Amino acid sequence: MKNFKLLSIATIASISLLLSCSSDKPKESTSTTTEEPKSMIDEAPSSSGLETKIEAGKANYEKTCFACHQADGKGLPAAFPPLLASDYLAADLSRAISGVVNGLSGEITVNGEKYNQVMPASTLTDEEIADVFTYILNNFDNKGGEVTAAEVKAVRK
Ligand code: HEC
Repeated sequence: MKNFKLLSIATIASISLLLSCSSDKPKESTSTTTEEPKSMIDEAPSSSGLETKIEAGKANYEKTCFACHQADGKGLPAAFPPLLASDYLAADLSRAISGVVNGLSGEITVNGEKYNQVMPASTLTDEEIADVFTYILNNFDNKGGEVTAAEVKAVRK
C-alpha cells in the first residue's frame, strides 16, 4: 500500500513535469505555416541586431500597416494587396519601399491579382520603415533580408 502510494505520487509528479515542459515550449515564430526553411536566418551568427529590428518592425507593423494588410499579411481581396509571399515585393524591394515612403496609387499586380487603390505615404521614420520591411521580409513567407534606414532615405522623394 505504501509502495503504491509512492508510485502514484511519482507518476503524478512526472506527468505534471511533462505538462509543464510542454507548456513552457518557446512560442514558434508567427509564420510556422511556411514551407521555406527559415534556418538561414535563425543560424546567422550575429542575428541579434537583425532580431531587434524584426521585433521593432513587428510592433510598428501592428500599429500602422496591419489595418489594411492584416495581421497575417494576407491583405483583403480587391482592396489591399497581400504582403504574404508578395511577388511585387520580391521583384523590386526599392519600388516597394518607395510605395510606403511616398505613397502608392494606380494599378499594380500582386500575385496575379490587380489592385487599383491608394496607399497613403507612411508617417513612420526611415528607421521605423526599415524595421517594418525587415520584419515583413523575414515573415509572411517572404525570402528574408534586411533593410537599412539609409536605403529608405534613398527612395524618399
Ligand atoms: C490605408 C491602408 C494601407 C496602409 C495603412 C498601408 N498600406 Fe500598403 N498598400 C495599400 C494599398 C491600397 C496598396 C496598393 C496600392 C495600389 O493599388 O496602387 C498597398 C501596397 C503596398 C505594397 C506593394 C504591394 C504588395 O502587396 O507587395 C507594399 C509592400 C505595402 N503596401 C506595404 C505597406 C507597409 C509596410 C505599410 C505600413 C508601414 C503599409 N503598406 C500600410 C494600403 C495600405
